[in-house]
Amino acid sequence: MVNLSQKEQTLLKDQKSHEEMCIKKYTKYSKEAEDPELKQLFNQLASEEQEHLNTVNQILAGQVPSMNSAGGSQKQNMQFSGNNMNNQHDADLCQDLLATEKYISSTYDTTIFECKDANIREALNHIQKEEQEHGEKIYNYMNANGMYN
Ligand SMILES: [Fe+2]
Ligand SMILES: [Fe+2]
Repeated sequence: MVNLSQKEQTLLKDQKSHEEMCIKKYTKYSKEAEDPELKQLFNQLASEEQEHLNTVNQILAGQVPSMNSAGGSQKQNMQFSGNNMNNQHDADLCQDLLATEKYISSTYDTTIFECKDANIREALNHIQKEEQEHGEKIYNYMNANGMYN
C-alpha cells in the first residue's frame, strides 16, 4: 500500500476525470463518425482509455500497478486508406480529440512531477506515452485524409 499525499490525490482525481471524459468522447464519437476506419480507431482508443482509467483507479486505491496491467503500447498501428477526404464533420471530431489528447498529456506532466513513488511515476509515464501515441494516430488519420493543415 502506498500512502498518497493530499496533493497527489487531488492530481490523480483530476486524471481520473480526464480519463473518464476520454472514454465518453471516444465512445460517443465512434458512433458519430461516418468513416468505418475512424469508428474503428475511436473504438480502439476508447478501450485504451479504459485501461488508463483502471490504472489510475488502482493507484488511487493505494496499489502500485504492475506494468503488465498498465496495458501494452505494442498494439499494431492501423493503416489508413485515405477514403474520407473533405468530410468536415469527421475532421472536426478528430480536431477535438487531438486537442483533448494534447491537453491531457500536459496534465500528466504535472502529476508525474508531484508523485513521490517511482513505480507510480513509471506507470503514469507509460500512460502519458500512450496519450502521445493517440495524438499521433489521430494525426496520421487526418494526414491520410487531407484534413490536417
Ligand atoms: Fe488516457
Ligand atoms: Fe488518450
